[in-house]
Amino acid sequence: MECLAVKHEVNKLIPVERVDQRDIQKRGGDYAKYPSSYVVCSLLKKYNITRILDVTYGEGRFYKLCRSDLRITGSDPVRRDWVVKPDSFIQADIFHLYRLASAEQFTATDLDAIVVDPPKWTRNARYKVHDMLNYIIGTPELIIEYALKIAQLIHAPYMLVHYKRVLQLNGYKPVHVVEYRWYHRYLRVSDNNHSLFVLYSIRQRGIVYGYRG
Ligand SMILES: C[S@@+](CC[C@H](N)C(=O)[O-])C[C@H]1O[C@@H](n2cnc3c(N)ncnc32)[C@H](O)[C@@H]1O
Repeated sequence: MECLAVKHEVNKLIPVERVDQRDIQKRGGDYAKYPSSYVVCSLLKKYNITRILDVTYGEGRFYKLCRSDLRITGSDPVRRDWVVKPDSFIQADIFHLYRLASAEQFTATDLDAIVVDPPKWTRNARYKVHDMLNYIIGTPELIIEYALKIAQLIHAPYMLVHYKRVLQLNGYKPVHVVEYRWYHRYLRVSDNNHSLFVLYSIRQRGIVYGYRG
């Protein structure tokens, strides 16, 4: 299998925002409960992204703060207790979803973005009870690689990837990076924890889709 995901140095021209979970939580209410949703919703809004295919849907926490602005298709091998109910849901792992998309049994031609947030990539974390972060079929990078294959297949204008580093994704270019410092009640961590929310834009004939907001 072709390896599509390799280490990538962040291009200095890409905006990198630094966000601390505790600053979001100070706002209280749903901001305190769903801080990652603030990061995701801000990015989606900034780039005018409203039609989403989330291939590691989980509980849909990412969309709590902007549900009414979005049309969401979720996919996950496990149907969880949703915090946000998607408009439609496909119970499948990413490999199955890719086969469905290749066979045109699943079509999504009018999407703005594919979102992928694989579990189990935090090396210095000791996972406790939270099944959603523990449960994985494949590896994080394989899941991202298959999300990319689906994105390529349907020419999704954007991909939003939550991972520990910026990956090089064929046919896509990182356009916005949010470095997110997080604290998780389900994880024991030994030192600084940060993750990256990286928004990639499709390259088409040398053109990179840009900020439309
Ligand atoms: C970190 S959670 C996603 C949380 C989600 N972003 C949210 O807002 O609730 C990762 C999800 O990936 C799912 N998963 C594990 N292996 C998978 C695979 N091979 N393909 C697709 N999803 C997978 C898990 O079931 C889990 O729900």
